[in-house]
Amino acid sequence: MKAFVLREVKSPLVAEQRPDLRPGPQQVVVRLHAAAVNRRDYWITQGLYPGIEPPIVLGSDGVGVVTQTGAGVGNYWTGREVIINPGFGWGDDPRCQAENFRILGLPDDGTFATEVLAPVSQLHLRPEHLTLEEAAALPLAGVTAFRATFVQGGLQPGETVLISGAGGGVATFALQYAVAAGATAWVTSSSAEKIRRAVELGAAGGVNYRDDGWEQRLAACCAPDLIIDSAGGPGYAALLNAAGPGARIVNYGATAGPPPKLDLFKVFWKQLRIQGTTMGSPADFAAMLRFVEQHRIRPLIDRVLPLEQVNDALQLMERSPQFGKLVLDCRDDAPVNR
Ligand SMILES: NC(=O)c1ccc[n+]([C@@H]2O[C@H](COP(=O)([O-])OP(=O)(O)OC[C@H]3O[C@@H](n4cnc5c(N)ncnc54)[C@H](OP(=O)(O)O)[C@@H]3O)[C@@H](O)[C@H]2O)c1
Repeated sequence: MKAFVLREVKSPLVAEQRPDLRPGPQQVVVRLHAAAVNRRDYWITQGLYPGIEPPIVLGSDGVGVVTQTGAGVGNYWTGREVIINPGFGWGDDPRCQAENFRILGLPDDGTFATEVLAPVSQLHLRPEHLTLEEAAALPLAGVTAFRATFVQGGLQPGETVLISGAGGGVATFALQYAVAAGATAWVTSSSAEKIRRAVELGAAGGVNYRDDGWEQRLAACCAPDLIIDSAGGPGYAALLNAAGPGARIVNYGATAGPPPKLDLFKVFWKQLRIQGTTMGSPADFAAMLRFVEQHRIRPLIDRVLPLEQVNDALQLMERSPQFGKLVLDCRDDAPVNR
């Protein structure tokens, strides 16, 4: 098998030929058709993630065919096209993952490879209405957006939701889910073009967070019942300011760092609820797949690159020109320039 390995942080991933994988008793080997890149992979290459222990194959999202099954697995999965839930060991509490929760692609070797090992408990049949590349874009971002929007965010039809950084992988899913659920969605983004793309997806409109005076425009455009944010940073104050009375604010990241100040006066006077969220439980993952199938949601793929160009994909993350997901074609015979 071929794998792209992080040997040291702040260095490109290195292609390695490795012995073919062998499944443990409750594992399967998935021959990967496609993988997708998450910001987590980028953070890890930059050394900005806890628990980095090179050498490690990164990549949390993968779709492919089960080629081998462990002794305790039976033969149901053999030859099936599967999507892997990358959140391992959530535990029994639906409110929060267990202490030993881990994400495929650190510490377990991940999907920037031609093959990956996965516990059989993490497998799902891939949604039939999706191409394999679309299905590969779904797992980590799709479940994070689902839990943020519905489980933690409690979004109801007819409510207004504000999604920050609409071009992000998770954010585009949140936007698609919100529109499918009958909510009115507003966005922020770094470019007029991305706001236009968001409106094409069903957003009511958006505000460019790089424009002067964007904070005032945001406060004037909507009074959201729910805000879904992964940026944090200095712009967080504008989100609290724009929040409607009694709004919920769900945070799944802090791309722009922690907010330099949190206006608690605003939090208690407007009776806001700030809620954290991380990925999702096995039940959330299954519910996300059902929702995506029911509403025929198709993940937005910015581009598909051959696995050999995984370092280019990671570099793109530095500037975030993409709208939606960067997908890797992991097939051995993948065309080299697409
Ligand atoms: N807790 C979890 O389970 C979980 C899961 C997935 C991701 N995350 C975290 O969530 C964040 C997003 O992940 P992702 O994979 O969706 O990343 P991504 O696809 O790389 O998207 C990042 C987006 O963040 C937006 N952004 C950057 N700076 C911003 C700012 N100052 N204000 C508003 N938006 C800003 C940009 O949106 P525009 O392009 O529209 O400007 C950018 O496209 C990362 O921090 C990641 O680590 C957490």
